[in-house]
This record gives sequence, C-alpha cells and structure tokens, in this order.
Amino acid sequence: MSIGLHLFGIALLLTVLLAMDDPHFNALFSGGFEDDNDNVMDPATVTTTTTQISYDGQRHFDLPIIQAKLFIPHFKVHIEGNSIIYKIFNVVDNQVDVKRCLINAQKRNWELKTLILMFKGISHYEGQSDNHTALPCPGELLVEGHHSNYGEPWAGGRDVFEFLAESSHLTPNSRVLEIGCGTLRVGLHFIRYLIPEHFHCLERDELSLMAAFRYELPSQGLLHKRPLIVRGEDMDFSKFGSGVVYDLIYASAVFLHMPDKLVWVGLERLVSKLKPYDGRIFVSHNIKFCSRLGGEECTKRLASLGLEYSGKHTHDSLLFNHYEIWFEFRRSKA
Ligand SMILES: C[S@@+](CC[C@H](N)C(=O)[O-])C[C@H]1O[C@@H](n2cnc3c(N)ncnc32)[C@H](O)[C@@H]1O
Repeated sequence: MSIGLHLFGIALLLTVLLAMDDPHFNALFSGGFEDDNDNVMDPATVTTTTTQISYDGQRHFDLPIIQAKLFIPHFKVHIEGNSIIYKIFNVVDNQVDVKRCLINAQKRNWELKTLILMFKGISHYEGQSDNHTALPCPGELLVEGHHSNYGEPWAGGRDVFEFLAESSHLTPNSRVLEIGCGTLRVGLHFIRYLIPEHFHCLERDELSLMAAFRYELPSQGLLHKRPLIVRGEDMDFSKFGSGVVYDLIYASAVFLHMPDKLVWVGLERLVSKLKPYDGRIFVSHNIKFCSRLGGEECTKRLASLGLEYSGKHTHDSLLFNHYEIWFEFRRSKA
C-alpha cells in the first residue's frame, strides 16, 4: 500500500476519532436531546433547522433531514471493525451459492403458502370463529412482494425524501401532496417526518393502496399520522379540501406514465393549491409533457397557468450507484 494511502487512512481515522469525541456527535448518536446545562451543547443547536413543535401531547424535534453524512465515517469504522468487506454475498469463488440464495426465497414461498392457507406460523388461534386481528393484512403483503412492484429499489425511497425535503426546505409543519404515491416507498418518510394529516396523496391503483393502508402504515407505527390518501386517476383534487395550500407537490416516476393532456389538467388544478413563490412542484425522470410542445411553447403554457420552470437537479443515492433527475417548478404569481 502506498504511503499516500496510509496517510489518508490515518487522517480519516483521526477525523472519525475527533468526531466521536465531539459532544455534538455523541449526543446525536445517543439520541440525547435535552439541554441540561452540563456544557454539552444540545444537538439541536448544531443543526440549521431547530424548531421544536408539539402535537398529540408529543414533542417533535426538527433535526436535520440529511444526517447520514455525519455518521458515515462512524459506520465505516464499524463495518471495517467487523471485517465486513463489500462483496456480492451469494457468490463464493465465482460460483453462485445456491443454498444461500434460496433461504429467503424458500422462506417467502413457504410463508406465502401457509399464510394463504390460514396457518399463521407456529402460534395461532385454532378455528375460524374469532378473528383476533385488528387490521387484517393479506398474506401477499406480509411477505413484502409490493416492495418490488415498481422497478425502483424500495431503499431508494429515503434518497428521494431527503432530496425533496432539503430542496423544498421542509419543516414538520409543511403540507405535502404526492401524485401517485404507490405503495408509499417515498411517502412513508414524509408521513413519519410531518405532523399528522399533513401528507396527502392521490393514487389510482387499488393494490398499492391496500399495501399502503393494510401493511405499511400499521407496520411502521404511522397510523396516528393520519395521511389523507385518496383513490383516483383523473387528477381530481376536490377530496383534499378547497382551502389547503401545499408547500411541496411532487410526482416520483408518475408523469412519464400519464397522457400529456392529463398532466396539464392536473397542473392547472394544482396551481391554486401551491403556496405562491415559496411552494415547489418537483417532477422526476423527464418533463416530456412540456418539452414535447417545444421549448418556447412549453414556457408559454406554464406561464399561462402561473407557473415557471426553475431548473433541473440530480441527487445521488446513498446505497447504490444511481442518481435521480428532478425538475423544479414554482408559482410565479400570487
Ligand atoms: C412507478 S410508480 C411510482 C410510485 C411512487 N411514486 C414511488 O416513487 O415509489 C407510478 C405510480 O403512479 C400511479 N399513477 C399512474 N397514473 C396515475 C393517475 N392518473 N393518477 C394517480 N396515480 C397514478 C401508479 O398507480 C403508480 O402507483
């Protein structure tokens, strides 16, 4: 190994050790929030957005959304300390380890079959007379097949949330509307962060909504956040109330699947629901509904609605080699 690499390693280690000795770092890592006058600064004071709000008798701290960067060096050291070297797990000596590959697949098949046959694992009530389940969830959802419904990795939902939240200066009080939230891959992170009832979604697919309502919200302990999720496919937002104004409206991998005409109908209806100037609409992947008209015509059409295009962004994934492309719009008139 070259001297340069050694020096780099030593510098990295020193940085990490300094960070770990840093009271802010330790307080953040241990989840300590209280300012107890012990000369250890409250972690909230080292963040940029530090409001504290209450709802339902619970305190909610507005910690920075993108915390991962602060902790990456710490986790890299732990990963190395456990000798977990990056590799593809199911391949040993260039051979696929079939046994290992199949553990999960077999278990899931088994789970699915037994659940469908009403044998609920080892401990279950006998007989069919009493249903002890408060919010019954179909077996297909319990084995999380819906995490792979839409091509994009489920884990990427967090990346999308972090990008949108930072770009729109989200706070827990913000109001957010997602068009086509699917199985809540992204929406879950918003629902967790926002105060109750502040996340809305219009989604057309029944199976996705079943997964959202019967699996994701209960299993993530988010029922109390009471997101308003409405089934519909006509860009009809009347069920969300006439007075609501959103800080963020976004469509993740949705507008590219819709007819252009429907996207324009939706935008026209959404303008009055977007906070003037500060509110943002974000659209992922492409904006062919607009560019297909031609640059000038596209700008004119947006302007006629009171919208303007503010730019294109990319955002890197934390976990896999991938970036998302996002297009930003804002309301140009009050
Ligand atoms: C590729 S999935 C993306 C789901 C989610 N946004 C995500 O990032 O994981 C596209 C979603 O848009 C929904 N969708 C498509 N056309 C729609 C429409 N006209 N109205 C409401 N939802 C629609 C689909 O049902 C699907 O859930």
